[in-house]
Amino acid sequence: MRKPFIAGNWKMNKDLKGALELTNGLKRNLTDVEDVEIGLFPPALFLPDVVDACTGTRFAVGAQNMHWEEKGAFTGEISAPMILSVGATHVIIGHSERRQHFGETDETVNKKMHSALKAGVLPIMCVGESLEQREAQKTLDIVSTQIRDGLESITSGQMARVVVAYEPIWAIGTGKTATPDQAQQVHATIRSILAEIFGDDVAQGVRIQYGGSVKPDNVKSLMTQPDIDGALVGGASLDVDSFTALVNFKEA
Ligand code: PGA
Repeated sequence: MRKPFIAGNWKMNKDLKGALELTNGLKRNLTDVEDVEIGLFPPALFLPDVVDACTGTRFAVGAQNMHWEEKGAFTGEISAPMILSVGATHVIIGHSERRQHFGETDETVNKKMHSALKAGVLPIMCVGESLEQREAQKTLDIVSTQIRDGLESITSGQMARVVVAYEPIWAIGTGKTATPDQAQQVHATIRSILAEIFGDDVAQGVRIQYGGSVKPDNVKSLMTQPDIDGALVGGASLDVDSFTALVNFKEA
């Protein structure tokens, strides 16, 4: 049984005060939640404060990105050991905004995956197609390549600690969500590729989140699909009430 994982990717939003207000609001509403894993991904600058504010909760806290090297002359970057050193446990790797605006490729995603897993940081690896690729019926090919190349040389043991997020680029921040059927089709394909690479047992345990305009009014129809095990949420994670409603999707 896969435990649903609802994660908020705050992107480049909030200042310190706003980050703490959001965290404390979620803490008031969601501290007792046990059947859904909750993840907060604030800007890296606020990780120590958000980790502190989450004391006494089961919330997972993570970074939105990291470099694959452990340390060195990489101005502006942070590494997996640094993430761990402030008490954060997770990292988002290969978000489509990183791929689009910062030149990330399946190759750099793969290096980051190895680095995170080696250090003991739990990665959410993001994949997803553009509108052009979907219209050209290339969705499953694109996602398959991203999964295979992003997870190159990852062991089955490591894979048990990985979360995958399927985020169609055309659905991110646009208000256009993939229909539950469209999302389920890709999620099922991802799981079958994982089964091929890592074996069925591992594949059945991997949580696959959907991301792209997930809102309180569409979360339930997505979450009831058999291969959708959570959500990676941007816009709707920035507000206490809407993120609370997402975590409480069963009541929607
Ligand atoms: P959105 O972002 O919920 O604002 O569409 C999702 C994401 O980019 O993770």
